[in-house]
Amino acid sequence: MAVQMTPDDASVDLEEIEIDLFIEAMLRRYGYDFRDYGRASLTRRVLNLTRRFGVRNISELTAQVLHTPQRLEEVISGLSVPVSEFFRDPLTFRALKTQVFPFLASFPQITIWQAGCAHGEEVYSLAILLTEAGLYPRCRIFATDMSQQALVEARKGIVPLGDIRQASSRYLESGGGRSLSQYFHARYDLAKFDEKLIENVTFARHNLATDGVFCEAHLVLCRNVMIYFNDQLQRRALQLFAETLVRSGFLCIGDRENLHVHADVPFEHADKTLPIYRLRRAVDAP
Ligand SMILES: C[S@@+](CC[C@H](N)C(=O)[O-])C[C@H]1O[C@@H](n2cnc3c(N)ncnc32)[C@H](O)[C@@H]1O
Repeated sequence: MAVQMTPDDASVDLEEIEIDLFIEAMLRRYGYDFRDYGRASLTRRVLNLTRRFGVRNISELTAQVLHTPQRLEEVISGLSVPVSEFFRDPLTFRALKTQVFPFLASFPQITIWQAGCAHGEEVYSLAILLTEAGLYPRCRIFATDMSQQALVEARKGIVPLGDIRQASSRYLESGGGRSLSQYFHARYDLAKFDEKLIENVTFARHNLATDGVFCEAHLVLCRNVMIYFNDQLQRRALQLFAETLVRSGFLCIGDRENLHVHADVPFEHADKTLPIYRLRRAVDAP
């Protein structure tokens, strides 16, 4: 028997309905799929957007999104959390240098995919360490994100000087062997990274929720991105990485992430103390 609800029934969670409709609108209008994102944090970001857009509720935001495609990038940027820092989690960078670079060095051409590169902090950090190891000229790096605005910022390579000053100790902890000042030009309180660091980098839009494999890589970095996904979407991303990696290729995720909940994925821990994994076997597309 169907339960009839009165219009002001308190059990009807309006916000829940509005979020569903917002997600549906993003998917059907623009192809962005947020269905498998963690609900609580997505809701927080959507509510932040309502304030930024000066609208009263999520339904009004949805109407704006549907009828104002010019504001789509702003919406994606607001949903994307492009928080990062140079040489974030330096012990992981150090392990990449000592445990993964020797593997990379055994190939004449090296392909690296950085998925969810945000404003490029990780791209420049890795490019510096690869340069110092003499590997950069052999590298082709794909730095991808779902947010076009993030990619534009990443390509510019301009950051507050203070961010780099704070990164100096992390650079040394990561195994950096020079002075960070060699890699940028300072002007007033801004720093612009040397263009050489992105000579071999292709910045491109790629959505882990909807796009497919586009290269064969020796190393994939996807740090602090899957924390926003539910188990199903994490699984999708991991399948993409497994199909992308060469045999025994490496996957590096965020320090606060792990693959324990996904016992059946074809990765094994390369270093039990760090979030670096290795592909166990070749993987076929499903
Ligand atoms: C917190 S930042 C991580 C930045 C960097 N990897 C790090 O660890 O410092 C998360 C990034 O993931 C991106 N992102 C979120 N969902 C994505 C998706 N479905 N496909 C591709 N990128 C996504 C966001 O746009 C954001 O730039």
